[in-house]
Amino acid sequence: MKVTISRYDPVTGEQPHFVEYDVSVNTAARVLNVLDAVRDTIDPTFAYRHCCRGGQCGSCAVRVNGEPVLACMQEAHEGDVIEPLDLPRIRDLITDIAPVMAQIAWLNGGSECPEVRQADIDDIKPLRECIECYSCISSCPAISASDFKGPTIMRQEQRLNLDPRDNADRILEAIDKGLFSCTTCRKCVEVCPKDIDTPRKAIEKLRSEAMKRGLSLPAHKALASLIEKTGRSIERKETTFLEQVADVIEPEGEVRATIGFFVGCMFNGRVIQPALDAIELLRLNGIRVIIPKDQVCCGSPLIRTGFVGFIPELQKRNIDAFVKAGVDTVLTMCAGCGATLKNDYDTPFRVVDITEFLCEIGFKAPSKVAGTYTYHDPCHLLRGQGISKQPRILLESVAEKFVEMPARCCGAGGGVKSGQPEEAAKIGAVRAEMVKKTGADYIVTVCPFCEFHLHQVTGLPVKNIATLMMEGHRK
Ligand code: SF4
Ligand code: SF4
Ligand code: FES
Repeated sequence: MKVTISRYDPVTGEQPHFVEYDVSVNTAARVLNVLDAVRDTIDPTFAYRHCCRGGQCGSCAVRVNGEPVLACMQEAHEGDVIEPLDLPRIRDLITDIAPVMAQIAWLNGGSECPEVRQADIDDIKPLRECIECYSCISSCPAISASDFKGPTIMRQEQRLNLDPRDNADRILEAIDKGLFSCTTCRKCVEVCPKDIDTPRKAIEKLRSEAMKRGLSLPAHKALASLIEKTGRSIERKETTFLEQVADVIEPEGEVRATIGFFVGCMFNGRVIQPALDAIELLRLNGIRVIIPKDQVCCGSPLIRTGFVGFIPELQKRNIDAFVKAGVDTVLTMCAGCGATLKNDYDTPFRVVDITEFLCEIGFKAPSKVAGTYTYHDPCHLLRGQGISKQPRILLESVAEKFVEMPARCCGAGGGVKSGQPEEAAKIGAVRAEMVKKTGADYIVTVCPFCEFHLHQVTGLPVKNIATLMMEGHRK
């Protein structure tokens, strides 16, 4: 098997560089077997970490083809590119993990030792499985753009916050370590070998306790009060989408399906045209669209920033609105709303993203539209809903030329754009560089927040997939 490994030895003055190795390993060898073969048969000076060889100690984490993995658990493949985690480097695949370890909180017990109840243990359990591999730290987009100490640091703060034996003020400590810097992109969940859901189980919970103590960011407090007052996260400036459209929009020709349309605050009040395009696109594809006018904000901006008190009220109003409309499928075109309705609600109806629904029932191919297009995966669609193929299928049906781009958070989510705009701009600048490398003339996405932010940081036109499809159809 041929693999490429990043090598670096500061003692010899050698700079980081890639070397290709041809090694002999058994079928279904792990990456760690490949590293062993390089050291044992080619270069005994090659340095990497490992210990348990069974996914338990976390010491063998490296990046394979750009993604953090445990070398002892990951099957090796011909052509793999193996690099160290994205942390300060000591030598070859060995990184300096001491600064991260120094930030991990320890239990601060007092002279009394209160009883730990089974309920406490159950609450702590999802947070205590960490094997300190630091894959999450290596791939978190917020760390290099702010003072954020990182996902597993927040995980440990909440783990101790839930422990009755701990006496420290974990909320103040978490704020000090950058609690409000997380964009809730869920990259840390994607790479965690123990499937620890740090954004939901730690960061949102810590933010919610911060809110109860009045410690939330001013911008988040203002947003929460706007939603409580108006049911919407966007200040009303012009005629809204819901005020412009009929309650029921019949399709062209045969009715192939009926859906309830959940519009979301951005498409209702700030960027209305893509929502109008989506309705037209659904109609053209034989879909009857029912639009309950009493729907409100899904609550995503509140949940992500910790203002959960008003959530049951919003959930009830939205569920009642669509139940009253008699639909069994509710369609969204906003990644954040879709992820919230799917993951934070218990709905008596099915929730689908517009791209997954169109691919599922089949869609009319539009005419090709000129230009080179790249696709930005919204985090709340890719990792919040597991949807990546469908938007690409739609885009390839309409774009004259489509160029791929690896997924990365744009920096707009989790209340970061409103609460810490400088950080959002820094994360966005990294994304803008990635866009530039593709040479695309246009960015296409399925999230109004990404759309808005990407346009700001790249200066390029950013189109919603529904708008682009309709351009093709109108042509
Ligand atoms: S959700 Fe994203 S920004 Fe937040 S801690 Fe995880 S990787 Fe970092
Ligand atoms: S939370 Fe997961 S990815 Fe992060 S250090 Fe712990 S085990 Fe590794
Ligand atoms: S060697 Fe312990 S997790 Fe891989």
